[in-house]
Amino acid sequence: MSQTYPVNAEFSEKAYLNESQYFEMYQRSINDNEAFWAEQGKRVDWIKPFTQVKDVSYARDDLHIKWYYDGTLNVAANCIDRHLADKADQTAIIWEGDDPSISKNITYQELYDEVCRFSNVLKKLGVEKGDRVTLYMPMIPEAAYAMLACARIGAVHSVVFGGFSADALAGRITDCESKLVITADYSLRGGKKIPLKQNVDAASEKEGVKDYLESVLVIRNSGDEVDWNSTQDYWYHELAKDVSADCPAEEMNAEDPLFILYTSGSTGQPKGVLHTSGGYLVYASLTHQYVFDYHPGDIYWCTADVGWITGHSYIVYGPLANGATTLMFEGVPNYPDSSRFWQVCDKHKVNTCYTAPTAIRALMREGNELVKSTSRQSLTLLGSVGEPINPEAWQWYYDVVGEQRCPIVDTWWQTETGGILISPLPGATPLKPGSASRPLFGIQPALVDGEGNELEGAVDGNLIMRDSWPGQMRTVYGDHQRFIDTYFSTFEGSYFTGDGARRDEDNYYWITGRVDDVLNISGHRMGTAEIESALVAHHLVAEAAVVGYPHDIKGQGIYTFVTLNAGVESSEALEKELVQWVRKEIGPIATPDIIQFAPGLPKTRSGKIMRRILRKIAENEFSNLGDISTLAEPAVVDDLINNRKSQE
Ligand code: WTA
Repeated sequence: MSQTYPVNAEFSEKAYLNESQYFEMYQRSINDNEAFWAEQGKRVDWIKPFTQVKDVSYARDDLHIKWYYDGTLNVAANCIDRHLADKADQTAIIWEGDDPSISKNITYQELYDEVCRFSNVLKKLGVEKGDRVTLYMPMIPEAAYAMLACARIGAVHSVVFGGFSADALAGRITDCESKLVITADYSLRGGKKIPLKQNVDAASEKEGVKDYLESVLVIRNSGDEVDWNSTQDYWYHELAKDVSADCPAEEMNAEDPLFILYTSGSTGQPKGVLHTSGGYLVYASLTHQYVFDYHPGDIYWCTADVGWITGHSYIVYGPLANGATTLMFEGVPNYPDSSRFWQVCDKHKVNTCYTAPTAIRALMREGNELVKSTSRQSLTLLGSVGEPINPEAWQWYYDVVGEQRCPIVDTWWQTETGGILISPLPGATPLKPGSASRPLFGIQPALVDGEGNELEGAVDGNLIMRDSWPGQMRTVYGDHQRFIDTYFSTFEGSYFTGDGARRDEDNYYWITGRVDDVLNISGHRMGTAEIESALVAHHLVAEAAVVGYPHDIKGQGIYTFVTLNAGVESSEALEKELVQWVRKEIGPIATPDIIQFAPGLPKTRSGKIMRRILRKIAENEFSNLGDISTLAEPAVVDDLINNRKSQE
């Protein structure tokens, strides 16, 4: 059995909750669920206070999720305006540039002025309440301003990560029918320039995009030249010149949409995960306060990109709702060198650092000296998110980065959950390296077998959630049936996470990874179906199958089996071409690590590809292929094994 670290007594003394207080509050949240959430609802300012707390049905023929649904509020006003009385001069956002010599502090008053100006620019461009706006942005303060400006005027933002290609961006613009895209000339990461505006130009030429897209609002970031389309493009700094730094906050219903965020599933195109206003904000605020034990004056840093849910909930909405100082970092962990994270911690006296296992593993590989060259004395708490953290990486993070002084919160959650569902609380939970530990308030995890029977005790199973919580997604944008089918049909009456987990004898949860065809590459979700459809879109490819395999740094790597059209010869040049092709179709984050050309793929007699076998081959586990007697052509397996490729 792995080691358990008792609760850090010093931390616990100053924390909101110790272990018995956590148990007490958790029990109350379950036994008296509505009263608990009614109380928590008060952590945000309502324009019209809610009288109704919860209306949820997980029944397939009447699926709906509503929280605080007769209340009205404005999310941006909650993140900014209400702090002005006592925090106008406090730093809201510390921005650290890619270039280590550049940073700036933005106070709550400045944030107010900037967001109001941005809101007025959006209005000038004709954006109205309910309109969808796509953001394709670098990690610069304007990304946060743009999100909050949308929230202020009631527009729905859809942030698309800057690592997605023009094609992927185009698909996301048309799916939610965005009339405006907000971007920058270039983004800067690790000293390299990424041509965001050029990608937007390419996206706007794709089929269907012009049916919706009216304007492109461009932030001048790098200052480099970009192509200009005078009927569609607007410089932000020009429109912002003569707008007011005041803009009234729109009154929104708690269940009005706040944002859409696209995420990969096991089938088809990415889904537009829809989050609404009131419940999302209550949940983001609650979890940010307790999981990070955030106290006024703390400097809090989440290293994620705003293109992911972690950036939404734990760089922008959660921290700002709590009046926190949140650090936003434009760069990457290894530029100018691999001690950058810890230099940033020293420079800004960071107390909490929340990052991903893939970054930890990559930095661990560079050795301890780069860490030890920095002080890190300001750090009191470390966090992890995005994928299971292997005990070795956990231990290094704990021993070397945190010098055994800082608890680690291993936070399990998903784009769909809006906020953290399972995590230690730093003053309350004994830590077990690699375990996300216990559920947060109101969260009722359970493990079920393939037939949906609940499993008791210390077991492995599929992870489901019995009840709703305010931060839960409400629907798949434009496709409620898909929402029902994806999450509420596998195990009736519960939310299915798509993850497997083990529960140990102390009731701790250990996430074992996805049980569906979703990969987790460096903590980023990628559907195997998406990569496969990108590959077969190439004119020389007949068929493709994609599986994950264990990768030292990324957690999982992308292993692709490709069957070429009859008569087409495989070659190294074609392999390179296919890699480039996938990068163009989806983006650099989907770059295949391995391409193996295969004359045939293992299929059942009914023609279904047997991924189980391909997974074993990719994982180098030939002895354990299981039953292959149902294969239409068992001989293809020998060919696949003989031609297996390794990472080198
Ligand atoms: C995985 C990211 C183990 C999991 C917030 C989940 C984790 C998927 C953890 C969601 C963790 C996230 N331990 N696995 N602490 N955090 N995952 O939507 O498989 O990008 O289903 O949300 O990441 O990824 P998403």
